[in-house]
Amino acid sequence: PSHLLTVDSLSRDGVDHLIRIAERMEPIAQRRKVTRVLEGAVLGNLFFEASTRTRISFNAAFCRLGGSVCDTTGFTFSSMAKGESLYDTSRVMGGYVDAIVMRHPEQGSVAEFAEATQVPVINGGDGPGEHPSQALLDIYTITKEFARLGKPLAGAHLLLTGDLRHGRTVHSLIKLLSLYDPLRITLVSPPGLEMPQHLVDLVASRGHRVDTRANLAENFDDVDVIYATRIQRERFTAEMSENFTELTSDFVVDKGFLDRRCAPTTVVMHPLPRDSRAGANDLSTDLNGDPRLAIFRQTDNGIPMRMAIFAHLLQVEALIEKDLRDVRW
Ligand code: CP
Repeated sequence: PSHLLTVDSLSRDGVDHLIRIAERMEPIAQRRKVTRVLEGAVLGNLFFEASTRTRISFNAAFCRLGGSVCDTTGFTFSSMAKGESLYDTSRVMGGYVDAIVMRHPEQGSVAEFAEATQVPVINGGDGPGEHPSQALLDIYTITKEFARLGKPLAGAHLLLTGDLRHGRTVHSLIKLLSLYDPLRITLVSPPGLEMPQHLVDLVASRGHRVDTRANLAENFDDVDVIYATRIQRERFTAEMSENFTELTSDFVVDKGFLDRRCAPTTVVMHPLPRDSRAGANDLSTDLNGDPRLAIFRQTDNGIPMRMAIFAHLLQVEALIEKDLRDVRW
């Protein structure tokens, strides 16, 4: 079977193809059309880590294509809590369902799981590894935002900030960005949470300009997109937790920073969740309702892109157009 485990399996043509399918899924995502093309198919959603967006939007996308979903969360839902291996779980699940979305705290675990099964597996996030469907919906969002603003993507300047070490979304996203015409990418992260060097080297080797900055305390008025990320304390070692000082205002993306330091058309993205607890400073709620804040346009884009992923992996993309009906409710 075809899987989506890492964005390494995607070429630029492959990304463009998925974006074109996602565009055709918009009437379904916007509840203007319905299809039953996946009628009879069952998705297994195996989430061994917390999730709101990925789990529920994959679930909704499969249902909107006419399929049904077995939805599960946490280690205790499965017999892995009794010591069952990824291999056995995978062999069993492949006999029950037609596609699997899996999230797991260990990097590489979803790929290991996929080796043993007979059905397509989508990596919904493997520890600090990758999150390919998030990166695809992020690229889809970036192309839509540039089209909305009437700007070309070629030569754009993107600023990635936050926990670039543990952020699997930025690991997948920076690889996808590297497939595009030369871009400028600026990386800003607290000490110890930098983007892995092999990813910086990969992007630079493909002709992109990569800069790093120590904080956000300077002008970024030529930046087109700010992509903020959450500090992933749950992935810190005890030593990292001990040595990590709270983020200063130099790392906060908020209204003051945007108004003072950035261009008026800057697009602000974040894979979410943003951390709303005291002392967390990834993306301020004072931007709620601001048109520069694209985070909820971004989450909405998750449904058509995840439908596109299913349509492609289950090879029903050509059938959907013929099966579309107007909504009757
Ligand atoms: N962006 C994202 O993966 O969100 P969830 O953790 O809620 O799925």
